[in-house]
Amino acid sequence: MSATDKVFAGSVPKLYDEYLVPLIFSVYADDMARRVAALSPSTLLEIAAGTGAVTRAVAAALPADVRYVATDLNEPMLAVAMQRQSKDPRMSWRQADALALPFDDASFDLVCCQFGAMFFPDRTKGFAEAKRVLKPDGTFLFSVWDRIEDNVFADDATIALGKVFPEDPPRFMARTPHGYHDKAVIRTDLERAGFADISIETLSATSRAPTAEDVAIAYCQGTPLRGEIEARDASRLQAATEAVAEAIRKRHGAGPVEARIQALVITARR
Ligand SMILES: C[S@@+](CC[C@H](N)C(=O)[O-])C[C@H]1O[C@@H](n2cnc3c(N)ncnc32)[C@H](O)[C@@H]1O
Repeated sequence: MSATDKVFAGSVPKLYDEYLVPLIFSVYADDMARRVAALSPSTLLEIAAGTGAVTRAVAAALPADVRYVATDLNEPMLAVAMQRQSKDPRMSWRQADALALPFDDASFDLVCCQFGAMFFPDRTKGFAEAKRVLKPDGTFLFSVWDRIEDNVFADDATIALGKVFPEDPPRFMARTPHGYHDKAVIRTDLERAGFADISIETLSATSRAPTAEDVAIAYCQGTPLRGEIEARDASRLQAATEAVAEAIRKRHGAGPVEARIQALVITARR
C-alpha cells in the first residue's frame, strides 16, 4: 500500500459521499445495519466510519439506550458524516487510528468496520486493537471488497486508466480496496490477533448509477485514486475521468448503468 492510499481529504470526502456511497456502499451499509441490530449491542464502536454510510443505517436500526462511538482516521471524512447525521444523544464522534484505538480495554459489545481493514498498514495489529476494546463475549463485524474482477466498475476504471497512463498505470483500486480478499489470509490475521470463532461470507450485489459519468467521477475523483492521477498529471484529471466514463458507456450503455459488486462479510468473536 502506498502512503497516499489512506488519504481521504480535499474534495474527496464530499464526492465520495455524493457519488461513491450510493454506487457501492449503501447496499452493504444496510446489510451491516441489519447484522448489528440482530446482535443487540448496548455499546458499539465503528472504525473507519468514513462519511457515515453505515453510521446512519445503524443509528436508524438501534434503540434509544445504545452508546455508539463512530471513528475514522481522516477528520474530513468524519466532518461530512457528522454534518449528515442529525443530533443524536446516543452518538459521539472521534478521530481515531484503527491501529491505536483511544479506548479502554473491554469497552464495547460490538466493533464494526465497513471496507476499512484493507487500508490498515498492519491488519493483525488493527484486529488486535478491535479485540482489545471488545468485552469478553463481544463481536467484531467487518467487511472487505472481493477481488477487483468481481467488482466490475472498479475493474473497468482501472483498465481504462491503464490506457490513459500506460507508462505508469494508477493501480490504487486493485492494490488497496481490492487487495485484501484471500479468506485464508484474513482468517490467519484474525487468529494471530486472538480471535477464535470466525465466519466469512461472500456477498454479491448490484451497483447502479444514473450515468457512466457518475461512475467515473465516483472512482476517479471521490477516492484516493484522484491523488494518484494528479500525481501523474494534475491537468489530466478531467480527461482521465472522461476516458473512464467513455469506457463504461461503451460497455454498459449511455443511460443508467449497473454492474456486479462483491464483498466478504466477516464475523469474529472473542
Ligand atoms: C472505503 S472508506 C469506507 C468508509 C465507510 N466505512 C463506508 O462504508 O463508506 C475507508 C475509510 O477508512 C479510513 N481509514 C483508512 N485508514 C484508517 C485507519 N488506519 N484507521 C481508521 N480509519 C482508516 C479512511 O479514512 C476511510 O474513511
